[in-house]
Amino acid sequence: MESNKLNKIISLCKRRGFIYPSSEIYGGFSAIYDYGPYGVELKNNIKKIWHKEMVQKNENIIGLDSAIFMNPKVWEASGHVKGFSDPLSECKNCHTRVRVDHLLEEVGIFADEKMTEKEINELLEENKDKLKCPKCGKNDFTKAKSFNLLVKSNLGDFTEKNENPSYLRGETCQGIYVNFKNILDSTRQKIPFGIAQIGKAFRNEITARQFIFRTREFEQMEMQYFVKPDENEMKEYENWKEKRWNYYLNLGIKEENLKWHKHENLVFYAKEAYDIEYNFPFGFKELEGIHARSDYDLNCHSKGSEVKLKYKESDGEEYTPHIIETSTGVGRNVLMILCEFYKEESSGQRSLTSTNQRSLDNTNQQSLTSTNQKSLDNKQKETRTVMQFPYELAPIKLAILPLVKKDGLSEISRDIFNNIRENFMCEYDESGSIGKRYRRQDEIGTPYCITIDYQTKE
Ligand code: GAP
Repeated sequence: MESNKLNKIISLCKRRGFIYPSSEIYGGFSAIYDYGPYGVELKNNIKKIWHKEMVQKNENIIGLDSAIFMNPKVWEASGHVKGFSDPLSECKNCHTRVRVDHLLEEVGIFADEKMTEKEINELLEENKDKLKCPKCGKNDFTKAKSFNLLVKSNLGDFTEKNENPSYLRGETCQGIYVNFKNILDSTRQKIPFGIAQIGKAFRNEITARQFIFRTREFEQMEMQYFVKPDENEMKEYENWKEKRWNYYLNLGIKEENLKWHKHENLVFYAKEAYDIEYNFPFGFKELEGIHARSDYDLNCHSKGSEVKLKYKESDGEEYTPHIIETSTGVGRNVLMILCEFYKEESSGQRSLTSTNQRSLDNTNQQSLTSTNQKSLDNKQKETRTVMQFPYELAPIKLAILPLVKKDGLSEISRDIFNNIRENFMCEYDESGSIGKRYRRQDEIGTPYCITIDYQTKE
């Protein structure tokens, strides 16, 4: 039933121009998607709301747009070149590659990407009878190996064998850490303060499933909050947890569709890590991570670059700030919003409450023939898709619909359209019956439609 909902959303996204598989005419490209005209608007609205909430409304948080490519030393210092990996195994029968931690999770065994190869292989061995290949159903897997997720490129490397690769960034926050000193030197920010950025990230994800939930190219919205390592640090952390939870409620997400997930298996430097999970059609899964990362990142880059990344208080006290991170994916937000506001309505039921109900009232109920009854039943079975987006998220805010094309109604409609499109994302639509045009707008979640009729003319 619920995977049915995901399939319906995927098909609506393609049919109505929200999201397309990338390079589809060539058979697509696994785990990469393109955003169509309504998808772009939805995505931009999500980013605008996030930026407003994090930057515009907080005097001590500033924006940044760092480059996708960075000096490869950044990724060595951060530990990504050695340790940014997922456990990969292959089905011996059909050669499908699987993420072992996910496979174990599906049968209720806790595992994650932070475990060592040895730990993962022990679990794989202990549970081998329970695990099935998602493609062929057999349960014979190769030993798990750590597979590095960084995407390599030859940018700036002119050796034939790409001996000095550069990397497409695996997370946007590294651009924030390496600009910490620039921000301190060029702004008047005092601790505590935050740096926020939205941008693309790339990961060689092993498995590609669940539509835009896990993609190899995606956008992140990350904020790194620099605090003094004292008794207030964890208060600030709790504060950010509360703010980010309320952010999703204010976006219109039902509280019952959100839950906290505490990371039990913390990386050595982390003080605390929680995820906000959303109830996707395939279960509760990570939407956003809120992490207390201590001084790990600034220390790594201080060591790697040999540049001092410290903060000096006005009284001369000097220390390496600790970092509280909030990190979420734009694509996961898009998918959450599509799932949350997707509704199906029975058009028969709806019209029965208005037009049909009136005509029924006028008819002697006794004389309702079986033919009438059948056509009513058919109408009731017709379902329409309605995206009940809140106004701020809706790709199109207003549609202008002339009742008919003739008698000057088109001209009046065009005038109004040209006027208001200065201020709102609008659509003009005069093709097909007025009912069909309303349905088209329902499907893309337009909150307001204006019908121009003969009364408008008067
Ligand atoms: N800087 C911390 C960091 O990158 P993460 O948990 O790996 O942490 C943060 O990613 C968020 O980025 C996730 O909560 C998710 O929303 C999004 N994300 C991560 N990998 C993704 C992928 N392959 N596809 C889409 N979104 C992804």
